[in-house]
Amino acid sequence: MADLRNVRKDFPILSRYPELVYLDSACTSLKPNQVIDAEMSYYREYGACGSRSSHFLGRRTNEKVEAAKENVAKFVNADPKGLIWTKNTSEAMNLVANAFDFSKRRKVVTTAMEHHSVLLPFINLRDQGKIDLEVIPCDPDGEIPLERWESAIDKETALVVCHSWNNTTGTGRDIRAISRIAHDEGALVCIDGAQGVPHHKADQKSEGVDFLAFSGHKMLGPTGIGVLTVRPDLLPKLGNFVVGGGTISNMRIEKPQYQLDTSRFEAGVQHYSGMFGLAAACDYLRNLGMDNIAHHEKMLAKPMREAIEASGAVVYGPKQTDSHGALFSFNFKGAKPQDVALMLDKLNIAVRGGFFCAQPGMEALGANEGAIRASAYLYTSIEDIRKFDDAMRKAGALYS
Ligand code: ALA
Repeated sequence: MADLRNVRKDFPILSRYPELVYLDSACTSLKPNQVIDAEMSYYREYGACGSRSSHFLGRRTNEKVEAAKENVAKFVNADPKGLIWTKNTSEAMNLVANAFDFSKRRKVVTTAMEHHSVLLPFINLRDQGKIDLEVIPCDPDGEIPLERWESAIDKETALVVCHSWNNTTGTGRDIRAISRIAHDEGALVCIDGAQGVPHHKADQKSEGVDFLAFSGHKMLGPTGIGVLTVRPDLLPKLGNFVVGGGTISNMRIEKPQYQLDTSRFEAGVQHYSGMFGLAAACDYLRNLGMDNIAHHEKMLAKPMREAIEASGAVVYGPKQTDSHGALFSFNFKGAKPQDVALMLDKLNIAVRGGFFCAQPGMEALGANEGAIRASAYLYTSIEDIRKFDDAMRKAGALYS
């Protein structure tokens, strides 16, 4: 089993700020040297356009981009032929919403617990009269029993869209079961893997996922690079999204001929350094082992929850810590989340306060003014959680 205690030396931010307890990994993760070096290697050793120029630097860039595509697809057991590079999960969700063919079925099923980037592209289509949107409500702890999915998904449903792991409660959905229900009704499934893929082994093929979106920057990779993996047989059924250089095979003003593969969706010169960095992030995570990472976070989850509860704060989400990753949202009754977050910051604890781009979900949980969120990752140590515990006791003395 890989020893996660040795990873901290790889993260320059942790060396630069030795007192820092970084508990904002759900917003964005820290990056190891291996990823930073891979990203810089593009500018130092490659420097050219991919899929365009036949000189040696162009060829080298292209080979490395293709290898990155294979690597990243393999990381989530997706077919590389269906991997589309995007900026992030938000762009991937907009791509699915706008390229999907809703002419035969026009109903989309999603949940009240989604990120704004999942909800807004479909709300936008609903408001243009292009789809019907059903938003499944959640229980007061954010959970959604499978029966509720069964009643919402029917023969009218074109697409089911939801997260694999939640960015406010730190809990997971049963993606296999949701996919089964959707497919039984002839609907397709699009998963927001932004919080799931960095922390848990994802397997697009065996989970029966048709579209999987995730962001590089939450999984040790660079900002500005994300992925949408599409079941390859669905590619020809998608309409265009952003078009431009690289998306056509033959440019005719009267009728452009578009590429048949994923390059139809990758307009303009791409974020090559980001692709190199994301591939390095996948290598880094793979070397540690996703099961070891999930195990480490489970080990942190219990003392994190205990620290929050001992301070007198209320935790949102299910009561059982077993169903949690190392991510908790909480509040001190009557205190403004941003005030608490700033107080913790003065004690060197970096957490996020607010709605976490999930206002409907936060309100459903009863956090009408938002909350404070502590989210750990593979570089978080048990010593970090001890410091968090001390700081939370001080916050509790003031606010509870
Ligand atoms: N989606 C990110 C978060 O949850 C930004 O904080």
